[in-house]
Amino acid sequence: MKVLDTGFAKGFIRMADDGWIKGWHERNGGNLSYRIKNTEIEAVEDDLCPGEWHEIGTDVPGLAGEFFFVTGSGKFFRNVSIDPEDSLCIIEIDDSGKKYRIVWGLKNGGRPTSELPSHLMNHEVKKRVSGGKHRVIYHAHTTNIIALTFVLPLDDKVFTRELWEMATECPVVFPQGVGVVPWMVPGGKEIAVATSKLMEKYDLAIWAHHGTFASGEDFDLTFGLMHTAEKSAEILVKTLSMSPKKLQTITSDNFRDLAKAFNVSLSEEFLN
Ligand code: 13P
Ligand code: ZN
Repeated sequence: MKVLDTGFAKGFIRMADDGWIKGWHERNGGNLSYRIKNTEIEAVEDDLCPGEWHEIGTDVPGLAGEFFFVTGSGKFFRNVSIDPEDSLCIIEIDDSGKKYRIVWGLKNGGRPTSELPSHLMNHEVKKRVSGGKHRVIYHAHTTNIIALTFVLPLDDKVFTRELWEMATECPVVFPQGVGVVPWMVPGGKEIAVATSKLMEKYDLAIWAHHGTFASGEDFDLTFGLMHTAEKSAEILVKTLSMSPKKLQTITSDNFRDLAKAFNVSLSEEFLN
């Protein structure tokens, strides 16, 4: 079977298009990765052609032997569906979790996203804490969330509470809340370590003045999570543009009632 005929490739490409349509991927902004299932990689074995091993730039022993579908560095989301073999690649992780090799794609050369350390360290954490369920890591340059990182304190509690308040379904969609990474140089191990620490607890991590990382079980849930958080941020930006102070909002007791009705557990740390 050809890689581009698989359901995972079609889902990946559709998600890239959806992110482009949302306006979150100016130029080469943002990146996406998917942890491929064993059955899926076996089905495309004849379409793979392994290249040289390269350093990942960090250690991910928990991902040894795994295969990932990943966007290429410097590639534009806008072009993914037009020429996926130029924009995307499949990589294999070696037995030590220190190296990767390209086994498909990037037909005109290139390398996986510069945020590969963050993607893989997030995958490693999420594979462990979700019992293997989470497979998608998505980084987008979400306009309104970025805008809020200039006016709100860079604090998990403040961002969680504000995003929960701006749309009733937010606490149901991300009951664990949102983590915030202060401004850091992107593309390396340091920001990957900081982000993956937050991913132990949250499915969303905001990079101040840069963008957002989301983790989920599949393309729909991960895109939906990013969309929900960014829409909530958009409502807050609009609200703050009309008035610096909210006249009314969803209260802590309202959240407790919501948690009961929707059978989710909301940490008291965000309700006080
Ligand atoms: P890449 O083109 O290397 O994926 O980088 C884009 C980006 O958003 C960096 O944070
Ligand atoms: Zn980025």
